[in-house]
Amino acid sequence: MKVAIVGATGLVGNVMVKVLEERTFRVTEFLPVASKRSVGRDVSFRGRTYKVLGMDEAIAQKPQIVLFSAGSSTSMEWAHKFASTGAVVIDNSSAWRMHPDIKLVIPEINANVIRKKDRIIANPNCSTIQMLMPLYPIYKKYGISRIVVSTYQAVTGTGMKAVEQLMNERKNIPSEKVYPYPIDLNVIPHIADFNEEGYTKEEVKMSEETQKIFDDKKVKVTATCVRIPVVGGHSESVNVELKKDYKIEDIRKLLSETKGVKLQDDFRNNKYPMPIYVQGKDDVFVGRIRRDNTMTKGLNMWIVADNLRKGAATNAVQIAEYMVAKKLV
Ligand code: A2P
Repeated sequence: MKVAIVGATGLVGNVMVKVLEERTFRVTEFLPVASKRSVGRDVSFRGRTYKVLGMDEAIAQKPQIVLFSAGSSTSMEWAHKFASTGAVVIDNSSAWRMHPDIKLVIPEINANVIRKKDRIIANPNCSTIQMLMPLYPIYKKYGISRIVVSTYQAVTGTGMKAVEQLMNERKNIPSEKVYPYPIDLNVIPHIADFNEEGYTKEEVKMSEETQKIFDDKKVKVTATCVRIPVVGGHSESVNVELKKDYKIEDIRKLLSETKGVKLQDDFRNNKYPMPIYVQGKDDVFVGRIRRDNTMTKGLNMWIVADNLRKGAATNAVQIAEYMVAKKLV
């Protein structure tokens, strides 16, 4: 496969390169792509060095698969231009996620919705992906009527400049701010813009994307998304109301048998997932599983994942792998 990575010099793009390197994905030609600023820079892939290309140059090379992580406006402008040459674009931005004709895919959950005609596939939001990985098997077995989630999101979710802001604040070096307030030693309950109701775009995404991926408008999601001074790894406190009663041991068993999910749930021995321990891992980690005693069918859990891996790059590469395996490329 001739594979291009648009945004190869960015945080997610970098991890896309790494994830592609690690997996058995057959890459016959590799095209790193970024903005004009980066054209000519070196990117290494599987032991070789490649020069970063600009967008027009990359389109002229007619890649078959384009992994896109260069922000929404870049996707809006360029995704169709790549797709019109026959490429499959897997887009990590929010540009296409809620478009009625574009599939929004977590391969373990709904890869079966992809058809041959689909040339742009949307990768869901990082917080949605890690929440739905363990909730999907529960949803299938018991039904879910409501999800209440609070996120604790790392700065890598914002991009390189955000990591710089955090590091510079730690060293007391004045620098450009991407957040409206200091992030070090702070917690900011504000991710993306607010709507008229006072919800942020990130919170709305978690709700809308869940309904689209589950193909079920009846699953209600209410979210509070919070940025914390952690470099990588998002955490989520998730409360769900199931439709059927359950035994906590059955939930544990179900999750322990779910591909891509790892249980770390042993409170007696202080075992639970934490962001520094999930770095570089593709699985979604779940712990603190316990009954919500304030309602009959309520369940609480704590979910942690590497936001740049399963929350972004790994999920995108898995979509590509699925499409190649099913001859959809
Ligand atoms: P560049 O490094 O040349 O600015 P991050 O989210 O970590 O900030 O990374 C964003 C990625 O998207 C970078 O690789 C960046 O390239 C790329 N990018 C941003 N704007 C454009 C654009 N207009 N065309 C192509 N790539 C872009």
